[in-house]
Amino acid sequence: MGAKRSFAESERLYARACEVLPGGVNSSIRNVLPHLVFKKTAGALLVDADGNEYIDYQAAFGPPLLGHNHPEVNRRVAEAMGNCLLPGVGTTELEIEVAWKIRQHIPSAEKVLLCNTGSEATFHAIRVSRACTGRKKIIKFQGCYHGMHDYVLRNVISPADKVGKLDAGSAGMLPEALENTLVCEFNDLDDVERRLSEHRQEVAAIILEPIPHNIGCVLPRPGFLEGLREISSRHGAVLIFDEVITGFRHHLGGYQAVCGVTPDLTTLGKAMANGFPMAAVCGKAEIMDRFTTRPGGDTFFAGTYNGNAVGCAAALATIEILEREPVHDHIFRLGERLRKGLREIHQRLGIRATVAGFGSIFLTYFLDSLPQNYSDLLANDAERFVEYRRRLIDRGIYKIPLNLKRNHVSFSHTDAHVDRTLEACEDVLKEMFGKPAPHKAPASAK
Ligand SMILES: Cc1ncc(COP(=O)(O)O)c(C=O)c1O
Repeated sequence: MGAKRSFAESERLYARACEVLPGGVNSSIRNVLPHLVFKKTAGALLVDADGNEYIDYQAAFGPPLLGHNHPEVNRRVAEAMGNCLLPGVGTTELEIEVAWKIRQHIPSAEKVLLCNTGSEATFHAIRVSRACTGRKKIIKFQGCYHGMHDYVLRNVISPADKVGKLDAGSAGMLPEALENTLVCEFNDLDDVERRLSEHRQEVAAIILEPIPHNIGCVLPRPGFLEGLREISSRHGAVLIFDEVITGFRHHLGGYQAVCGVTPDLTTLGKAMANGFPMAAVCGKAEIMDRFTTRPGGDTFFAGTYNGNAVGCAAALATIEILEREPVHDHIFRLGERLRKGLREIHQRLGIRATVAGFGSIFLTYFLDSLPQNYSDLLANDAERFVEYRRRLIDRGIYKIPLNLKRNHVSFSHTDAHVDRTLEACEDVLKEMFGKPAPHKAPASAK
């Protein structure tokens, strides 16, 4: 893809950023090499400060499901801004319409409340679970991420010696918060049963990403989500699906509409508003009615910017486009083309790698087989994983160079983007692993 890229302007601006922003970025895992400063996003593309263009699979960790700067979404946002941006009292028609859309599509959503980030949504879901059950503890799963607050920030991408042990995600966390968050192995119902038996009548909620995408893509085993549903009900714990990534991306009804398991509460964000800040917590009316938005409610719910017109207009426009256009057909088809194409390349080159994904999500692990849980991912060759992605950046493909991170296809990606991506992946893998050995011809049986 042409001559070696220059990053001189990014470097200059990054140095300026570092003088005022600790680390030069505004969110911890944005601090990756090369330190790029971006000046434009458009459709499936990113453009950096030196004018280098990238096919973007990082997708800001998931929001631009339709592609960056979608014209219809942006137009609807601009219109809404000119009407009623933030009255901050009562409600607006836009808020009402967004809530009804969520109720229409998300199976668990009898009632809905809007906020601005996924972290707020999971915080509220957990607090209301504690209010309803009168219990303190929650269960999360090793590898799942649910936001930056003390209730959940432990045991995400843990070093091997901390798996299943205390792995606090930050300094300054309350020890009591950490102690009250128990950690189980994903796809292991016995582990969940054991924890619940050890802490009988103490667990308020079980929270999970129904597909843990914060560690790439670990699919739930058949029966795992159904089993969690049954166990949660039997033990009187609230089942929370954190669909901040999977919601809208995998189906208009979230992954719960795909797997047929209905949680008690659901958290949504990211793809819901195609890049504008917007999130929601929704679920059973009897739980949602505990919030103080309703007179008599006892569980505090507030936020200056909740229900602002920018997020609401973006969400409404995004959901209406998802209802109308073949977005999921398109992104699932391109996702499958990428997964299949990568598998063929690995086979052709005799490379030890595994392609994982679902729908629009794909990634290559340097592993022998598909992972069932986080422990399996400890065997992933992290150095190779990151090097592969750094080299792709030089060829104009942006997949964030961080271990275990997923890639996203949007409605703006095209077959031509997929062709270019597969070509670049093959070139980089050849560079990294050398030429194919003659005895490693494709073992194609089909
Ligand atoms: C599954 C999941 N839940 C919650 C969050 C937190 O969302 P936010 O970053 O909007 O606070 C994230 C963010 O990556 C996430 O992936």
